[in-house]
Amino acid sequence: VAPLKVGIAGLGTVGADVVRLIETQGRALSERSGRGVRVVAVTARSKAKKRGLDLRGIDWVASPQALAEDPNIDCFVELMGGAGDPAFTAIETALKAGKSVVTANKALIARHGLRLAAAAEKHGGALNFEAAVGAAIPVIKTLREGLAGTSVNRVYGILNGTCNYILTRMEQEGLSFEECLKDAQRLGYAEADPSFDVDGHDTAQKLAILASLAFGTKVAESAVYVEGISSITPEDLRAAEQLGYRVKLLGVAVRTVKGIEQRVHPTMVPKSSSIAQVMGVTNAVAIDGEGIPPITLVGPGAGGAATASAVVADIADIARGIRVKPFGRPVERLRDTTKAPMERH
Ligand code: NDP
Ligand code: HSE
Repeated sequence: VAPLKVGIAGLGTVGADVVRLIETQGRALSERSGRGVRVVAVTARSKAKKRGLDLRGIDWVASPQALAEDPNIDCFVELMGGAGDPAFTAIETALKAGKSVVTANKALIARHGLRLAAAAEKHGGALNFEAAVGAAIPVIKTLREGLAGTSVNRVYGILNGTCNYILTRMEQEGLSFEECLKDAQRLGYAEADPSFDVDGHDTAQKLAILASLAFGTKVAESAVYVEGISSITPEDLRAAEQLGYRVKLLGVAVRTVKGIEQRVHPTMVPKSSSIAQVMGVTNAVAIDGEGIPPITLVGPGAGGAATASAVVADIADIARGIRVKPFGRPVERLRDTTKAPMERH
């Protein structure tokens, strides 16, 4: 079988590690998926930037759009970020051409995921976005495939590595919020605009995606109540500690009689609880399903290597020929999320 020809748009923290991982895991990947995987073309903003990558033998394409249109690629991998263009149009172009797409872009999937999923369903390509939530944790697959036979009542957890890293270091080392955020940026955890992390919007986007998969509803970021962590001080964390609590930024989506309630806010959790033990860049997602004990997935929630791991797994699925409905069921079967954001109380 001819190898799967991959084009990558974006060679930053995640994209560069994806190129490296495909290079180092090439043989294992083709053994596991029954088909070779080859990066044949890439693009980014600057061709001149030093990236520590060996791109010999790989085409440099002028723009994401040109890469999406390139007849030489089977699989378009979007790792640029941003809820709008060039990511959106390039992905839609690739899907309409019958190509498969992999992205780690939760902002884009939260805003345009349904339209893109409809294009994937119509034209027969895959739209895989495992890395968009929980980086290396296979939470999308767990909800979409693993729990396909289970009615989920609640999904919640720590969904932003940057915020958990900041809260952990503020608590353990008494550092300021700003110092910790700078380190999170240096380590490649934060979004290009870190206000998405610290104001809670990144968590809200991820929660909206998980809620859609868990409850069979349309992705609705606007239905999420959002509060971030930027006003929290080391003193707040110390006061919580004296009372026996830790502060965590939680995303919670829960089935109620009025519809699906979705909220993101700092939460005091008892120090003895398992969610309180989740420290640093680690994420945790807990799922309460009907008739089964709760399931909790814990693992690295941000960073190049962790995210590349999920991106490459998505590429391997495409090489295997796996095509699933991106949101677990046909887009036209997804129901409306009826509950509006709750009032602050
Ligand atoms: P970076 O900012 O490190 O990299 C972005 C890359 O995209 C850069 O190579 C940049 O080019 C390129 N790029 C940006 N805009 C354009 C454009 N208009 N045209 C062409 N290329 C462009 O981001 P990350 O790697 O951190 O994140 C990428 C995606 O992965 C985002 O959607 C993010 O939300 C998601 N993600 C990130 C995680 C992380 O831990 N970092 C974890 C999970 C998901 P150049 O290098 O030339 O500037
Ligand atoms: N900025 C995100 C975070 C990246 O810190 O969780 C992973 O999605």
